[in-house]
This record gives sequence, structure tokens and C-alpha cells, in this order.
Amino acid sequence: MGIITPIHQSVLLEEAVSYLAPVDGGIYVDGCLGLGGHTARILEVSQPGGRVIGFEWDADALAMARQRLKQFGNRVTFVRKNYSSLKEAMAELGIQGIDGLLLDLGLSSFQLDLSGRGFSFKGSEPLDMRMDDRTTETAADIINTVTQEELADIFYLFGGERQARPIAASIAAERKNKKILTTDQLVSIVSRAVPKRFHPKKIHVATKVFQGLRIAVNRELDNLVTVLEDSATLLNPGAGISVISFHSLEDRLVKRFFKQNPALDVLTSKPVEAGEEERRRNPRARSAKLRACRKSATVA
Ligand SMILES: C[S@@+](CC[C@H](N)C(=O)[O-])C[C@H]1O[C@@H](n2cnc3c(N)ncnc32)[C@H](O)[C@@H]1O
Repeated sequence: MGIITPIHQSVLLEEAVSYLAPVDGGIYVDGCLGLGGHTARILEVSQPGGRVIGFEWDADALAMARQRLKQFGNRVTFVRKNYSSLKEAMAELGIQGIDGLLLDLGLSSFQLDLSGRGFSFKGSEPLDMRMDDRTTETAADIINTVTQEELADIFYLFGGERQARPIAASIAAERKNKKILTTDQLVSIVSRAVPKRFHPKKIHVATKVFQGLRIAVNRELDNLVTVLEDSATLLNPGAGISVISFHSLEDRLVKRFFKQNPALDVLTSKPVEAGEEERRRNPRARSAKLRACRKSATVA
């Protein structure tokens, strides 16, 4: 665990796991295994016989999780798949019901800072942004091929970027001369497209563009909708769902899904946020929101 901890610190670890209330013999799904932080905690709490089925579509992250979770032997099953294929994957494993689902959405710090795949606007990296390198469409493909209007929608709807239109117009103009293939090219276009007086004070001027692009490349909202809908039928009575999101669109989607599903009892009337100490120790925790629910014990 020692060398992995600085690469990614698990967010809202105790809170997210406690809503699942893992027990010996239970079967839990971690849809966002990452470097295995939440899974390790579920396995500790549910010893000696609790199991975790861990989904992770990023081969590098999966390799690190395997290493970190070695001590738990066959109590953890590693699945290199999109968590949106939960239903098929469970059928393949012969699992008919699960006792909890945890989703710690988005990126790990490892992917952001060390993967070299263009998630960060800090250096010069290829504009890739795929968490799963078996998919084909990269951020560069989107930037260089979709219409100016579609680009503006991606930045505005997925990134919440208010300057989406001028940014999309600048990209459309620039790509006529030269393909946009690296993160620093994109950062430079965005900072020139946004008038100085609109440059945000607390975040980088390209933060929202990068976020919108990443969500589009990885189809993050579609995946979330699918896994939530499919989980409802797989959850055993009394089983919980914990979702940690970092984006208001995701949080809203989770909130609505919990509320609209009559079989689910909402456990968090307001989203749970990280406390002072965690925020200080881990800046990534500052935008995290945890929502949890439990399938009613009486519903089959
Ligand atoms: C925030 S990290 C999880 C960190 C983990 N909870 C921990 O404590 O180490 C999110 C992880 O989920 C993975 N991920 C995101 N969307 C996914 C999807 N649709 N299917 C499978 N894995 C996904 C990412 O590759 C990333 O490694």
C-alpha cells in the first residue's frame, strides 16, 4: 500500500464504504477500482469471506490494483471492462445478486498526473484522454473532426464552460492550418480565445474545456446511466449503492435516479462532502459529493 498511497488518495473512504455496510460473505461491486483503495477497505471490513468484483478499464491502473490487493487472494475478481457492462459481466461470472455497488467516478490522480495521456493541461502530452486504450476515439479526433457547434456543446454541456462558443470558433479556425494534437496546443488556443477579463481566478482557463472533452471521449454520463439502471435489478434486498461524483451533472443524475426509483431508500438527504482535514490533505476531495441509497429490504 505504501508506494501507491501518494499516487492516489481515496476520497471519502470510510463514508462511502460505511453506507455499504459490508459483511462477511457479501458480494460487492467496485465499478471504479482505480488503485484499489475502496476495494481494500471493503475487503477488510467484510473479512474473512466478503468478495469484491472490481471493474477497471485502464490497464495500467488495473495492474497497480492487482499488486496492491494481492494479499486478499481470490476474494477479489478483476474485470477489465467498462462498468456499464455490469449485467453481462455478472452473468458471465454466474453472479445473480450483489450486496452493494460503489462508484468513485472520474479519474485517479495517477491518470491525471502520471499517465501521459493528456488529461492534464500542465505539460505537453498527446491529446488522447482515453481511460480505456481499446476504444478508438481520442480527444484529438474530437477536436479535429466534429463541427464547431458540437465542440461548443461539449465544452458548455459537459464542462460548464461559458466561453464555449468563442473557444470552439478559435479551434475551428486553427485546425484549418494545423492539426491540434497536443495538450499545450489546446491550452494556448483556449487562453487566447478567452478574453483576459474572463480568465477565471481560482482554476486554470482550460480546466472546463479539458473536463468536457474527457467526459465526451469516455462517454462518462452514458456509462453512469447504464450502470445505475442495470444495478437496480442486481441488488439484493438491503444492498446499498454509494456514488462519489466530482461533477454537478453526475451528482444530479445520481440524485434523480435514487429519488425516482421506488425500490431505493435514499440514505443521504444532502450529499456528503469531505471534512476540513481531508480537504487539506487531498485537494481532489474538495469537489467530491457522495450519495448513497439502499434497496428496500422488502423488495425482491
Ligand atoms: C477516482 S478513480 C477510483 C479510485 C479508487 N476508488 C481508489 O480508491 O483507488 C476512478 C477509476 O475508475 C475508472 N473508471 C472510470 N470510468 C470507468 C468505467 N466506465 N468502467 C471501468 N472503469 C472506469 C478509471 O479508470 C479510474 O481508474
